Amino acid sequence: MDMMVIEGGRTLQGSVRVSGSKNAALPLMAAALLAEGRTTLHNVPDLMDIRTMASLLRSLGAEVVRNDGDLEIEVRDETPIEASYDIMRTMRAGICVLGPLLARRHGARVSYPGGCAIGSRPIDLHIKGMVSLGAKVKTEHGYLECRVGRGGLTGREMYLGGAYGSTVLGTANVLMAAVLARGTTVIECAACEPEVVNLAEFLTAMGAQIEGAGTARLIVTGVKKLKATQWHTIPDRIEAATMLMAGAVAGGKVTVEGVRRDHLVAVLHKMNEMGIKVSHDGNGALTVTGRKRFRPVDVTTMPYPGYPTDVQAQLMTLLCLTDGISVVTEKVYPDRFMHVAELGRMGAEIRKENNTTIVHGVRGLSGAPVMASDLRASAALVLAGLVARGETEVRRIYHLDRGYENLDAKLIKLGAKITRKEQPAGEVLKD
Ligand code: EPU
Repeated sequence: MDMMVIEGGRTLQGSVRVSGSKNAALPLMAAALLAEGRTTLHNVPDLMDIRTMASLLRSLGAEVVRNDGDLEIEVRDETPIEASYDIMRTMRAGICVLGPLLARRHGARVSYPGGCAIGSRPIDLHIKGMVSLGAKVKTEHGYLECRVGRGGLTGREMYLGGAYGSTVLGTANVLMAAVLARGTTVIECAACEPEVVNLAEFLTAMGAQIEGAGTARLIVTGVKKLKATQWHTIPDRIEAATMLMAGAVAGGKVTVEGVRRDHLVAVLHKMNEMGIKVSHDGNGALTVTGRKRFRPVDVTTMPYPGYPTDVQAQLMTLLCLTDGISVVTEKVYPDRFMHVAELGRMGAEIRKENNTTIVHGVRGLSGAPVMASDLRASAALVLAGLVARGETEVRRIYHLDRGYENLDAKLIKLGAKITRKEQPAGEVLKD
């Protein structure tokens, strides 16, 4: 297992291009199960989670081949309906095959996804949606056993909101089930995230009839068949935000290319409030100018278009470098604060109370050995390492490799000093 060793204090300068979005590509891949023929997905990042989804699709009878940034997916056998525990325990997005399996194969045996460091991640809303469409669902031995009657799924009106608002993958899953259902489905409290819009547009290109993508009400008129087509994965807005924040703490001037600025409105507004200058060329390139200190801000994570939970940890690193107090409230995953203790090891002063943290700005951070616990917490620690005095060892970086394509290579290109080393043995056992 690798760790990342970062020598802090280097100024970043130059430009990098953002990869395709992991969280958009995963449901797009699942949607390929709905069509006959060969689907081509462009701009798919080469990441562990994508490879795991490819394995899942292969186990469900699809051929999946990578050609540089493209994935070619062709369904060869439509009889398998089981998503096994071995695959599902490593990646939650595997649950996205449930909708396509029920819609197209009229049955599914899908393992409950594995646990997750960012807190409990139930799938009750996914199940609620499928049951609304007429699926019979029961839980047996850790698997969802689902059946659909001969006539297939039936469109219905449903409310898909949960205790914390809308669900991104839940909306994607139900949408993929509804496109082949008989009649009209109305999904109220649908997720408005760009990744859901990317999926809805892909399904529409395949022949689905969907209105309201990007709003909280999706109206789907079921069709009999979808045809395979080609589609572009949107740029990764979370990677873009992470790179802009890296530039903010350690720039110089850093340009992030290939970005959808309209997907980053909440992040850019917060950065602006903190005194960070980000300019754009109107053509997908954003340039951030680094600074030593930031203004404190309060932030609450919310479903899109609110401030994204996936950029909460990275922002917290920046909030350590203010001359005041900031309050960070997590309203999507109330327990997503594993980075707090690790930032504390680097000199941060952060107090946590339930789903809120109070961040007291400090003079600076100092390099230390720290432990990555999930994808975005790992990114926050890398940002802290870039600006800390001395050397930071970020251990268990496999979390980072699950979701960022070549993050260290991109930062090195900008001037960071980062090396990968074998992590001392023994720690591997603690996972
Ligand atoms: N929720 C329920 N019941 C459900 C589903 C969700 O109560 O059936 C709750 C969750 O526990 C959470 C909230 O609803 O409190 C929102 O969860 P959501 O379903 O939207 O999350 P997700 O779809 O499972 C995706 C991303 C996450 C990202 C969230 C929120 C993918 C593969 N994952 O997860 O990404 O944090 O949306 O935007 O798209 C990441 O990339 O690091 C990551 C964790």
